[in-house]
Amino acid sequence: MPLVTSTEMFKKAYDGGYAIGAFNVNNMEIVQAITEACKEEHAPVILQVSKGARAYANHTYLVKLVEAAVIECPEIPIVLHLDHGPDFETCKSCIDGGFTSVMIDASSKPFAENIEITRKVVEYAHDHGVVVEAELGTLAGVEDEVKVSAEDSSYTHPEEVEEFVTKTGCDSLAIAIGTSHGAYKFTAAQCTRNEKGILVPPPLRFDVLEEVSRRLPGFPIVLHGSSSVPQEYVKMINEHGGKMPDAVGIPEEQLRKAATMSVCKINIDSDLRLAMTGTIRQFFVEHPDKFDPREYLKPARANIKELVRHKLVDVLGCSGKA
Ligand code: G3H
Ligand code: 13P
Ligand code: ZN
Repeated sequence: MPLVTSTEMFKKAYDGGYAIGAFNVNNMEIVQAITEACKEEHAPVILQVSKGARAYANHTYLVKLVEAAVIECPEIPIVLHLDHGPDFETCKSCIDGGFTSVMIDASSKPFAENIEITRKVVEYAHDHGVVVEAELGTLAGVEDEVKVSAEDSSYTHPEEVEEFVTKTGCDSLAIAIGTSHGAYKFTAAQCTRNEKGILVPPPLRFDVLEEVSRRLPGFPIVLHGSSSVPQEYVKMINEHGGKMPDAVGIPEEQLRKAATMSVCKINIDSDLRLAMTGTIRQFFVEHPDKFDPREYLKPARANIKELVRHKLVDVLGCSGKA
């Protein structure tokens, strides 16, 4: 089937109590790893491209890689989505250039300005059969070049969501309930330590999610910054020349719970990066004489694929839903 929008996917996910995985893609191996896992698990998927990915790999290369995945995986629905569109022009370029979904992220702007920019993107997108994700609230962490400190982050105010959705006409809404971008989601001071000395982050604000869902019945909610930072890969990185002390993510059981609620899209990027980096670091340490990129990208791709499979089955609950 051709690329689809997320409309039908989100409706089924909302009613079925699961979420769709939205994975960031930057190169061929990542596209292959994600879509092979989704194909084998019969899972719908959102492949998302950030401004940074477009700058790195080029819009056309990324679109063509995703189109190749569509040909290789005809039985699963695939959405091509712009992640964190910073302005109208970037969204327009992706809408004109083959994307079926865009995010306009004006969450750092004042409320009225966020509405105005989002409304403009929605009008253009809907005229072209493309759906729009918007954001209210500010996540901590790093996305593209922007770094938001924990102090400057803010939870979504549920009392704003009805006016925002009504005035903008957006199709889904990303909210801030305590997730955060990157591999260092929380400072040690924000966490407690368990008996193994591993940092345990503060729990997500399910009260905020519940109040947003009560005010927007049936409306798909999105969680960004939802990597869990698997400690096996942090360890693999640190044992093979890396230095990532106290990297910590969102516990998977909390994401599983969110997926059974109104959360229909869960964004995961950093976990895939950790799997790729850990695998390649280990390969180089174990095979200092090798220099063929195919030899080290192959196990990296295989490990990303197994990680994605785990997310589909154990976290998102979307295996078998294609
Ligand atoms: O939220 C950001 C995503 O992880 C994409 O990251 O801007 O480094 O491509 P990037
Ligand atoms: P992570 O950094 O937690 O993987 O979040 C990715 C994301 O939100 C992409 O938009
Ligand atoms: Zn994000």
